[in-house]
Amino acid sequence: MKIIESVQEMREWALAKRAQGQKITFVPTMGALHEGHLSLLREGRKLGDQLVLSIFVNPTQFGPNEDLEKYPRDHEGDLKKAKGCKVDVVFYPKAKDIYPEGFQTFVNVEGLSKPLCGASRPGHFRGVATVVLKLFNIVQPHVALFGEKDFQQLKVIQRMVKDLDLPVEIKPMPIVREDDGLAMSSRNRYLSPEDRQAALAISLSLSKAQLMVDQGETNPKKIIEMVQATLEETKKIKIDYVKLCNPETLEDLKTLKLPALLAIACLIGKTRLIDNCLLR
Ligand code: PAF
Repeated sequence: MKIIESVQEMREWALAKRAQGQKITFVPTMGALHEGHLSLLREGRKLGDQLVLSIFVNPTQFGPNEDLEKYPRDHEGDLKKAKGCKVDVVFYPKAKDIYPEGFQTFVNVEGLSKPLCGASRPGHFRGVATVVLKLFNIVQPHVALFGEKDFQQLKVIQRMVKDLDLPVEIKPMPIVREDDGLAMSSRNRYLSPEDRQAALAISLSLSKAQLMVDQGETNPKKIIEMVQATLEETKKIKIDYVKLCNPETLEDLKTLKLPALLAIACLIGKTRLIDNCLLR
């Protein structure tokens, strides 16, 4: 497994592999790898000849009061896991090389970046879209894999790829959950055992919502109220949003039309967790 830190070396490597007719698959991450990331890597391994993993904690997607400094970093552990998934190259750039002095160009996917997490994390998706476009330009992948846990991020990237005619296929991958239902997230490591227990209300409320729909509920307001009540029962969860939306436009649904995206963001202590499901 090769570790490349330089932007130029990474691009040259990718261009050489492409010239040899090799298919490059790519999993961009911020490190602190968990089973969710590993599922993307395993699928990426199957889909191409060369598998690239990037690890870069992207400063432009964090707000001034967010957890950039504190974001979990586990370089040694990440390299071990990457090796286990037969990654060919780990691209591990430095912030000063991704954002050199004088950097001032950003990508803004206007509509899809506004609701849900965009409302509480202004500038977040601008940072995500910008770094992902840069990584695509450097790594030159044929296919890039993204998890559906960050559903809005996936939609923003799909839109960017379409709008800017980027020659890359985006492969969405299902959410990976712990046995007890908690969606895998790098931020789960912040949770105390009590917080982690409380966090189970999130996936529980998603399952209860699907059950309501199975039993014939068609009123979005009633579903949202049930989810809010389930989360609030724990006393530890502070809700940021509970939304039922059109999964393509991310606009709120006034009447239930399936499949519908049920998306949750909440705080447990200082840890922000998101989760979602498509109600069918
Ligand atoms: O999902 C993430 O880990 C990040 O948002 C991404 C896509 C690697 C961009 O920094």
